[in-house]
Amino acid sequence: MRRKLAAGNWKMNGTQTALAELSALDGTSSPTVEVLICPPATLLHAAKGVAGDVAIGAQDCHAAASGAHTGDLSAPMLADAGATYVITGHSERRADHGESDAIVAAKSQAVWDAGLTAIVCIGESLEQRDSGKTLTVIGTQLANSVPDGATGANLVVAYEPIWAIGTGKVPTIHQIGEVHQFLRAELVSRFGNDIAGAIRLLYGGSVKPANAAEIFAVKDVDGALVGGASLKASDFGPIIAALTKA
Ligand code: PGA
Repeated sequence: MRRKLAAGNWKMNGTQTALAELSALDGTSSPTVEVLICPPATLLHAAKGVAGDVAIGAQDCHAAASGAHTGDLSAPMLADAGATYVITGHSERRADHGESDAIVAAKSQAVWDAGLTAIVCIGESLEQRDSGKTLTVIGTQLANSVPDGATGANLVVAYEPIWAIGTGKVPTIHQIGEVHQFLRAELVSRFGNDIAGAIRLLYGGSVKPANAAEIFAVKDVDGALVGGASLKASDFGPIIAALTKA
């Protein structure tokens, strides 16, 4: 059985006072559900200190382990600060920083080389969905953003339709199910049944306490990557509870 994952992505939000929201989540992990918060890198070390049974992750890393890259952070540094996960290829990084699938693959490999788990994000634009290209786009992103050597321990894939992020719009249950089953099938054909069956697939994009249970009931949805609703324990707690019940 795959252990489910409730992952919070704080994006560029949070200073020291936000750590109270994280410590309020201590005790919400269970044998069936892992809870993860990815705060800004400035809070990683302090977050590790108050997280209790909540795992800590980073939102990006450089593809190199060290060197002359002013302002960047490497995966070994993030590991040293307490991260066990790193998000790679979030659509905001693909858009703001021009990250291609090849760059995302190199970063994901760096995450693995540091002994961490990569949460590789993929997702279509509204224009791509409206023109019927969703599965082609997602399939290409998956193939080119995930390096060879994936396992259930080192890889999580997050399906995040760009048009659903921070908008309050959510795909239908049918659309989410279609993409997740497609992703599972693509992983099976590349990595085989055993490995593909152990890789967790998250849905992300406007997950809220009100819609979480419905989304978690979809086949092949193993959890969520949550932005806005992960900032407050009073929102994220009910989402974790819905995943625990699913
Ligand atoms: P959202 O963000 O939950 O605020 O839509 C999701 C994400 O970008 O991971």
